Amino acid sequence: MTRLAARLGLALPLLQAGMGAVAGPGLCAAVSRAGAGGTLALYKEPPARAARLVREVAAATGRPFGVNVVPEVTGPAACLDQLRAVLPELPRRAFVTSFGLPEADTARAVQAAGHPLVVQVGTLADAGTALGLGAAVLVLQGTEAGGHLLGRLPVDLLLTAVRARYSHAVLAVAGGIATGQDLADAVARGADGAMAGTLFVPAAESTAHPQFKRRVVEAVADDTLITSLFDIGWPHRPHRVLRNPLTTTARRAPATFIATARVDGRSYPVPRYSAAAPGEGTTGRIEEMAMYCGRSCTRVTARHPAAVTVARLSREYESARSPRTASPGLADVTTARASGSHKPDRIQER
Ligand SMILES: Cc1cc2nc3c(=O)[nH]c(=O)nc-3n(C[C@H](O)[C@H](O)[C@H](O)COP(=O)(O)O)c2cc1C
Repeated sequence: MTRLAARLGLALPLLQAGMGAVAGPGLCAAVSRAGAGGTLALYKEPPARAARLVREVAAATGRPFGVNVVPEVTGPAACLDQLRAVLPELPRRAFVTSFGLPEADTARAVQAAGHPLVVQVGTLADAGTALGLGAAVLVLQGTEAGGHLLGRLPVDLLLTAVRARYSHAVLAVAGGIATGQDLADAVARGADGAMAGTLFVPAAESTAHPQFKRRVVEAVADDTLITSLFDIGWPHRPHRVLRNPLTTTARRAPATFIATARVDGRSYPVPRYSAAAPGEGTTGRIEEMAMYCGRSCTRVTARHPAAVTVARLSREYESARSPRTASPGLADVTTARASGSHKPDRIQER
């Protein structure tokens, strides 16, 4: 068992990323029940609804799960409001993940409630600050990752730098994780586990739009790029997305409404270049919306219930950690790494 698994009470040292429009109660609970770190995205959820979603997860799993906040988007005050609403609803073994550095009073609120604080960072300096805030786990995000990017280093370089400076820190890597072999490789390089987002976008329980799921399954790494285009609602933060008609056009088109998102029975217009990803209730020009996707998509080849994917990763991880027991059927998974330009044969998930 790695220190990440021990610290958070997980069977597999893998966290599912909190993902706005993708990671609702269904995905979080399914991943948690399967023994990995299912995480509910709170993103811009108002406090009362956030508390209701947490109750839904707590009723659906008896194993640890997390809630994810994005202070940079909500602002520190609204982030604290979200947490004040959800902390009383969290079971004892739940954890809180923050995308980027939280304010000190946010960190204190989580710690005072007795929950481990997991902070995702992209630089060595932020790693030190997060540890100073009392983070129990650091997630080191590399530029391979899907979604908004916290730094400029590939994940291996960041891991090497942070491990050298903070030898005792509990570290998970984010970016490039889609198989148990990827996870085992990260652990062999000094991580205590990993976080994966893109891997779970196509999951049966994910609330991503079906077109988004299909594109992730079909994509290879070179179909993604880092851009700053989708800045409405979340400015000044580059992000890795799937290429689409907007990313391939030189001139910026008008930011008129191109889609409608439906949440809790209410409709919200979505402007072109919005940071919002297409969820299952979104209608309109889905192909022009931000489909966040990491380079790991090359090895994401199927839509399955999350439990099937977690079970596959567990098997592959165990085999990779004890090579003599590896089954021959894993060969096409483990050799399907690296290339950004072709999709491996479909990985069989039983
Ligand atoms: C569709 C999508 C949405 C995301 N939304 C969030 C979010 O709301 N909060 C967050 O902490 N991270 C978010 N991320 C980033 C993840 O935390 C993580 O860095 C990333 O998924 C890791 O790379 P991978 O997608 O290649 O596994 C998102 C990533 C994706 C792919």
